[in-house]
Amino acid sequence: MKSLHETLACPKPWVVAHRGDSRYFPENTISSFRSAIEKGAQMLECDVQLSRDRVPVVIHDGSLERTTSGRGKVCNWHFDELSKLDCGSWFSKQFMGKTLLSLDQMLEMVSDQVLLNLEIKSQAAESETRSDGVESLLCEMVHEHGLQETVLVSSFHHLSLKRVREQKHSLPVAPLLDRPATLAELQKLHQDHDAFSIHQDQRHIDQFLLQGLKESGIPVLCYTVNDPIRMKELSEWGITGIISDDPELLRKEIS
Ligand code: G3P
Ligand code: MG
Repeated sequence: MKSLHETLACPKPWVVAHRGDSRYFPENTISSFRSAIEKGAQMLECDVQLSRDRVPVVIHDGSLERTTSGRGKVCNWHFDELSKLDCGSWFSKQFMGKTLLSLDQMLEMVSDQVLLNLEIKSQAAESETRSDGVESLLCEMVHEHGLQETVLVSSFHHLSLKRVREQKHSLPVAPLLDRPATLAELQKLHQDHDAFSIHQDQRHIDQFLLQGLKESGIPVLCYTVNDPIRMKELSEWGITGIISDDPELLRKEIS
């Protein structure tokens, strides 16, 4: 398996599966991740929240209602309670009985088959101000699994990424943005966070901005691209990676 840094030499954009193969499978489940790997994704993106007993859990929302049979906030339930919830039925009856994964289970199952982009959700970062917060739990876990060469940590909560960089077992980080930003702002963000890459909403990326970032040696991943025409365009502009709900379509469009 190539490391994150080695993969930069890849001539085509990285195919990054957003919450797995989430157009066809319930997001952030093992079925979704397995399918994305089978369809040739190079990287899986997944979201990390924290349970009440401080277990990192792979789920996007801070609340359980949208994607599980549970109610209330993820951070108010112990992992053994969360692990009994159904997180497949909301998507389709076919996936009834699918359960939430802890980050530890996900790392165990996926291992180094693909690169991983672990997104620390703001609720998980904000719920912890202690030195053994989500950042330390996550970094230690990734190192215990020996995956430090293939994991990239991103977050909209940029302070959380600073905490990741301060860990003994630090990992590469990527600030996420969901607003327009200038080339100078992005260069500063990259430098201030000692970041590997910048992850910008695809709506705020144009050819000029991308060219400037490339010339500065800053890798750029963008989310979430499901339109084939946009996939091709971003690929032609030389983007580093594209995060999509449909990794198979993305692979086809950029090949
Ligand atoms: O990491 C890219 C993307 O996943 C960020 O937004 O809300 O889908 O986690 P969201
Ligand atoms: Mg995400």
